[in-house]
Amino acid sequence: MQQAISTNKKIVMSGIRPTGFLHLGNYFGAIQNYVKMQNDYECYFMVADLHSLTTHPDTKELKQNVYRVVAENIACGLDPQKSAFYCQSHVKETSELYLYLNMLAKMGELEKTVTFKDKARQNPDNINAGLLTYPVLQAADILIHRASFVPVGKDQEQHLEMARIFANRYNHRYGNVFPEPHAFNYNQALVKVPALDGSGKMSKSENQMATLYLADDDTTIRKKVMKTLTDNGPTEKNSVMPDYIENIFLLMQLVSNTDKIEKYTTDFNEANIRYGDLKKELAEDMVTFISPIRQKTIDLLNNEKALKEILEIGSEKANKSANQTMQIVRETMGLNY
Ligand code: TRP
Repeated sequence: MQQAISTNKKIVMSGIRPTGFLHLGNYFGAIQNYVKMQNDYECYFMVADLHSLTTHPDTKELKQNVYRVVAENIACGLDPQKSAFYCQSHVKETSELYLYLNMLAKMGELEKTVTFKDKARQNPDNINAGLLTYPVLQAADILIHRASFVPVGKDQEQHLEMARIFANRYNHRYGNVFPEPHAFNYNQALVKVPALDGSGKMSKSENQMATLYLADDDTTIRKKVMKTLTDNGPTEKNSVMPDYIENIFLLMQLVSNTDKIEKYTTDFNEANIRYGDLKKELAEDMVTFISPIRQKTIDLLNNEKALKEILEIGSEKANKSANQTMQIVRETMGLNY
């Protein structure tokens, strides 16, 4: 069988929905993984603009959202020279593969997808067929590069399971073309980035004051960190750490140096900790971490030419890989006349 790629590195593929501002949880949960993977694998990272049409038919802000997510990922260290960083709609063959895979997807299995049921419930006036076949399009994104590894969180596990089912069904019916794609993460447990108000993980949609965005300015970062809940401190040595204090330490582990963390851990255990100082230092470390990313994002967003070029380089690489796969697909399916 024809070889798809020039190197024999394993292939990685992941999609990023263009839904606005990224936050610290996105950085430590996903982007950091992507940045690391680009050195070890052949990587395809894609902005899922077509997927967003299933829930956001109004495209007024789509371009701006695509550019923002591209700029933020580049500012975080995604390297368009090392990876193929592209836009889903720029690889037309994806839609072709999506069509073929739709013939292999069973109505029943699509209808019982948890994300479909959730979205249908949230938006009863727009239960469109694209929403139903969302996992088929996602499978096409992955299989078009014959990727083996997909760096995604737990919420995507069912979609990935469906991609494996469609791949296997294809292989069984038409010949062995697709490897089974599996979730991939460097760390066994994904890094947990707690929300600043102790309400669970940092997330886009919840309380904005509890989430640190990569676009937050320095004053906002300081204000958010200083507002995190503390108390008067432990009254006895070696007390059990309350959740909300542990969360502050978890955040420190992301951006502060080990000496500082050790100092405050010791202070806590000695029942002699000044949370005001701790938060001030954490706020400064957050500013040091976030502000260069924010600045780089702003610079890129002001340079549409550079953004377009990044997407062009990416789509060229992605299209090359997609074309190779689709040639094999058309041949194995008998569509080669
Ligand atoms: N569905 C994914 C999400 O909601 C985005 C996505 C689209 C994706 N295509 C993909 C993820 C392919 C991994 C692989 O985050």
